[in-house]
Amino acid sequence: MSNSAALAPSSRASAFLVFSLVWFSSHVLAAGHPDYADALAKSLLFFQGQRSGPQPADQAVKWRSNSAMSDGSAANVDLTGGYYDGGDNVKFNFPMAFTATMLSWSIIEYGGRMEARVHDARAAVRWATDYLLKAAKTTPGKLYVGVGDADADHRCWERPEDMDTPRNVYEVSASTPGSDVAGETAAALAAASVVFKAADPAYSRRLVAAARDVMAFAWQHQGKYSDHVGGGVSNYYPSYSGYKDELLWGSTWLLWATKNSSYLNDLMSLGANDGVDMFSWDNKLAGARVLLSRRALLDGDKRLEPFTRQAEEFICRVLPKSSSPTSTTPYTPGGLMHRSGNANLQYVASASFLLTTYAKYMAVSNRAFSCQNLPVTYKALRALAKRQVDYVLGDNPLGMSYMVGYGARSPQRIHHRASSMPSVAAHPAHIGCQEGFQGYLYAGGPNPNVHTGAVVGGPDQNDVFPDDRADYARSEPTTYTNAPLVGCLAYFAGSYKK
Ligand SMILES: *[C@@H]1O[C@H](CO)[C@@H](O)[C@H](O)[C@H]1NC(C)=O
Repeated sequence: MSNSAALAPSSRASAFLVFSLVWFSSHVLAAGHPDYADALAKSLLFFQGQRSGPQPADQAVKWRSNSAMSDGSAANVDLTGGYYDGGDNVKFNFPMAFTATMLSWSIIEYGGRMEARVHDARAAVRWATDYLLKAAKTTPGKLYVGVGDADADHRCWERPEDMDTPRNVYEVSASTPGSDVAGETAAALAAASVVFKAADPAYSRRLVAAARDVMAFAWQHQGKYSDHVGGGVSNYYPSYSGYKDELLWGSTWLLWATKNSSYLNDLMSLGANDGVDMFSWDNKLAGARVLLSRRALLDGDKRLEPFTRQAEEFICRVLPKSSSPTSTTPYTPGGLMHRSGNANLQYVASASFLLTTYAKYMAVSNRAFSCQNLPVTYKALRALAKRQVDYVLGDNPLGMSYMVGYGARSPQRIHHRASSMPSVAAHPAHIGCQEGFQGYLYAGGPNPNVHTGAVVGGPDQNDVFPDDRADYARSEPTTYTNAPLVGCLAYFAGSYKK
């Protein structure tokens, strides 16, 4: 943000320097920090723009309307609702369930700091879990795991409201198991049951009952859903990490939601001990270890101490080399974690969530640890998470926010069909599958619909962001990027009140 001008040798350097200092002082010194409460509200609004199915009366994102109204009909069931994962129009339950789990965990840890926004956050969870309940409960012996045809969908650039590609229904069962998608679905339902325990006890009981059944199915019939489910679903979101991580994660959430120690025995028996340095819709080991540390550190459950050590190993891999000799996480010159050239900010958001959350457990339990010989404090974890969140919100070399509609400059051309094409209200006539490519995807101007709160894939390893609509790796938002960010934003909104 302020690093470029001071050394510029041109004659305009001093004018630029003055401009930079004015900009710097107005944006950083005067405010002291980003407006986290504003970013939190926007991060939640994003989920409304991702809604599939009938839009409710209180829908605030007006450029969306009803879509995929007969989802499930290919199997004679009702599977309307849920979320599109990103800029396309497919429902992938595996990342959708992870989104719901992380939104729920965000509320469980930080709901007390959300103020009135906690209602929006619960609504965002419920939009996913209403659908996941249908997926779990509609047909005994089956768990539905997705609707749509990703390959056909990607051959079109169409508004969800105009969609005319196949809406195939995908499922797992005892003979075609999927412990990965089942374990994550159980995690989502169990985590949401904790969220709604006081707010809606009857709903909470339905959620936990469904979670139990789906978790039992995940254990009893073990397999990877991508070995059985056809179509695009398994090409886009197979569980590369296998399913042990979801058995651990799902059992951990069931343990919390039910307090039934049989889940503890199950998860202790797993031996899921791989070292990890990222946390995502694919690999949940780090999240499960942090969550089990809560029980170890806050409730003093000594049996879970091995998970605490594993959680700390993860943190040592994520910290920069300067504070952890065992770091395996690259950072950009501007200070952003850089795990992948594709949708990198999902990993930044999920790691930042685990940092603030583990810091919370450390602070409450007076826990300290070291990365080899270097001591780590909870304050260091919070500072690193703040650095990442602040980068996303505009404290970076380009001086732009990566959340649409937050701050003075943010992405204008996100890779998102509904955002990039006129709304049905503005342009009622059908826009066909192929028409969308030249007319909208490859058009130069800004998107007509501002998808407020959408956090894109983000800059590359050199802090560069071209804001190009066709550049899905950097310009597409996803629900599983925003979900953990909601928790971080609530945490910082509570810590740095205006
Ligand atoms: C605990 O869970 C196990 C396995 O799901 C079940 O068999 C048992 O009945 C449960 N116990 C209680 C007290 O609910």
